[in-house]
Amino acid sequence: MSTPPAPVRGRPRAHRCDGVAADARRILDTGLRDLWHPVAPSRQVEREPVGLSRLGEPLVLWRDAGGRVHALEDRCPHRGARLSLGWNLGERLACRYHGVEVDRRGIVTAVPAEPDCPMRGTRQLRSYPVREAAGAVFVWFGLDPDAPPAPLRLPEELTSDAHARFLCVANWRTGYRYALDNFMDPAHGAFLHAVSHALGQGARRADTTLRATPTGLRFDRHHGHGGHFDWVEFGDTHCLWVRLGLPYKRRYGPGGDFGIVGFVTGIDPQHCQAYFWRTRKVQGWQRDVWRFLYRNRLEALHWAVLEQDRLVLENMPEHAREREFPCRSDGALLRVRRLLLRRARTQACARARQGMLQTPPATLA
Ligand code: FES
Ligand SMILES: [Fe+2]
Repeated sequence: MSTPPAPVRGRPRAHRCDGVAADARRILDTGLRDLWHPVAPSRQVEREPVGLSRLGEPLVLWRDAGGRVHALEDRCPHRGARLSLGWNLGERLACRYHGVEVDRRGIVTAVPAEPDCPMRGTRQLRSYPVREAAGAVFVWFGLDPDAPPAPLRLPEELTSDAHARFLCVANWRTGYRYALDNFMDPAHGAFLHAVSHALGQGARRADTTLRATPTGLRFDRHHGHGGHFDWVEFGDTHCLWVRLGLPYKRRYGPGGDFGIVGFVTGIDPQHCQAYFWRTRKVQGWQRDVWRFLYRNRLEALHWAVLEQDRLVLENMPEHAREREFPCRSDGALLRVRRLLLRRARTQACARARQGMLQTPPATLA
């Protein structure tokens, strides 16, 4: 006669692995760490402090008198008021509630109501490394808040004078992973954007090739007669970016293929901010023609295309990716998903080893 299993008393004890898996999920849902992420277009950060949520973390950004942007956790060390509501004192911020001052390193420099308060001189807040490039503010979200950041390496379209570029930023009510899937899925162009000026020219059926590049992978689509249509590249250079190339009709001005360099930054698990740099390799008078055409004609068309993407993405059921039937044309996005998942797990394990596991905030009974 077999012995009945011992009754389970109370709730099973949480295992450390459960904590790691939950942390990996949180990282995956909000955005990988140890990367630079664009958090705002430069024009959004002026003298007034700006409060943002990025990768599920509240940030305050401000510009000092020399024009340098700084980023701190958006929480006053006194009683937690938003520092972004306070005053810009150059390399310091002052909280609007009781005037506590914190410098760009997160060190409390003044407690006006109690000058001998022991909080003075201590580091109370996390500060984030910041770089500005191509009209956007990039922030380093280090796994270890005290470790130095890796260098910011952007695709050449964003750094070289040979390329003209316009930045367009869109907020979408969807997790960043669906937006990244969309970037990595050029096949949707011939359907969702069928009436678009460039994307609608794409073949509905195309042969595809996927190959590794020195910084990531590239996915090409070829027309049935061997002609090349479009491609998308994923790069990982201490920041995750996507680059697309699209053929452009002659009537859309001089220059080679039209390019898009895209980034997508998680705001929280259900919202993201997508960055699109529209680029073209043109110089001299041809650059002027292209800039004029872009501003007067193409920009509105591009916003219309983004609206088509937004409609589909914002209406994706939350768990759509758990019940899908991927096709060959999804090869590139599946590879990127695997990379994100692996990296999120590695980062959660690293955090657990360092005793920095993120625990959800306790709730009061
Ligand atoms: S909460 Fe900021 S000074 Fe009191
Ligand atoms: Fe699209």
